[in-house]
Amino acid sequence: MLTPKLIFNGDEKMKKILIKNLNGTLRLPGDKSISHRAIIIGSLAKGITRIKNLLESEDVLRTIDIMRQLGIKIQKAADTYYVYGKGLLGLKEPDDILYAGNSGTTIRLISGILAAQPFYSVITGDTSLKSRPMKRIIEPLTKMGAKIFGRNNNQNPPITIVGTHKIKGITYKLKMASAQVKSSILLAGLYAKSKVTIIEPVESRDHTERMFEYLRIPIKKENNKIILYNKAKEFKARNIYVPGDISSASYFIVGALLKEGNKIKLEKVGINPTRMGLINVLKRMGANIKIVNQKIVNNERVGNIIVEYSKLHSVKIMPYEIPFLIDEIPILAVASLKAEGKMIIRGAKELRYKESDRIKAIVTNLKSLGVNVKEYEDGFEMKVKKAIKDNVLIQTFNDHRIAMAFIVATLLTKKGLKFDNIDSIRISYPGFISALKKLQAK
Ligand code: S3P
Repeated sequence: MLTPKLIFNGDEKMKKILIKNLNGTLRLPGDKSISHRAIIIGSLAKGITRIKNLLESEDVLRTIDIMRQLGIKIQKAADTYYVYGKGLLGLKEPDDILYAGNSGTTIRLISGILAAQPFYSVITGDTSLKSRPMKRIIEPLTKMGAKIFGRNNNQNPPITIVGTHKIKGITYKLKMASAQVKSSILLAGLYAKSKVTIIEPVESRDHTERMFEYLRIPIKKENNKIILYNKAKEFKARNIYVPGDISSASYFIVGALLKEGNKIKLEKVGINPTRMGLINVLKRMGANIKIVNQKIVNNERVGNIIVEYSKLHSVKIMPYEIPFLIDEIPILAVASLKAEGKMIIRGAKELRYKESDRIKAIVTNLKSLGVNVKEYEDGFEMKVKKAIKDNVLIQTFNDHRIAMAFIVATLLTKKGLKFDNIDSIRISYPGFISALKKLQAK
């Protein structure tokens, strides 16, 4: 009989978790960012978009529900999702409030579309989403001609939108690196008769641009400028395979690095250059990570990632790298639990506006683990002098990435860690715990 290497006990609200090792091969569920875009952009295409490996997580289900409320038929048969796109002018006024749950991508991208519809809509979310900044989309979408308002002086959801098909082009300089804001403007921009130019301070993930290109929508990039000149033209649906989620992969990548004897292979993972920040930093830290079998699938790069236990040391992280690893900072902090030297993250104030205040969440939990840590408004620094504490309580702040990152940290403990609530994992990776169990059975 196998000795249990992954322990779960207690009730749903208080779990004790211990991972002892990670070995074997895993195929990851679809990338969250690309899944949202496949559903949303597929709804605006003419014809049927067949999507394979779509992520079936809470956030993506919110996007699917909303597009259905806007009149789009979306069905699943066997392993394929079918989105029956009605073209740019095919959406209908919803008869109720649209609910984006915990998902920033859902509310910000769909608001871009709603800004370009000649009807009334209201979109809101859960407690976390209602406290997240929305002025960043309200401002440009207003300039493009939509009537759009939010609570708290246009800062927070619910957002009320009365849009127009006669949306105007815009030249807009983003105040922060944000793929969600960029994509919101680009989606509204599909309807504009004049040009849309977006200037990015630092490059952010470019899945929307790549999907537009794949669908033959006229978009181009010139240095830090993205130029869309679609003139409200319709575009045809094409099939999409969603690559495995590199952000979900990051928990296994770091997990494999942390303990002697670990070795894993992750298959068909998205390795878009704008998402490679963590892997690049880990390689500089001394990580043995190989990427093989690379190919391009619907304008996105995919590959297999092979990772082995490695001795790590801390390195300097450059400001331009932050957007390329923004969702991976919690797990980078966990990787640093096993790295020699001081780890410093600055220029990452955006972390305070994620599903939780992630700077606070990371710092709180590192302190509980007995780590020397200093908090800054835009980051933190940490230095590990001795083994982390066993059996302490991790506060997840109802944030999926905080929960998964610190579950990986249990690899460094003897008796495991306690978690206040890990339900939030369903937001991006409902199968996370089963995947961990699978990699330990080997
Ligand atoms: C996302 C962009 C990022 C990221 C989020 C998903 C996207 O947010 O943190 O998890 O799908 O465009 P910002 O664009 O707000 O930085």
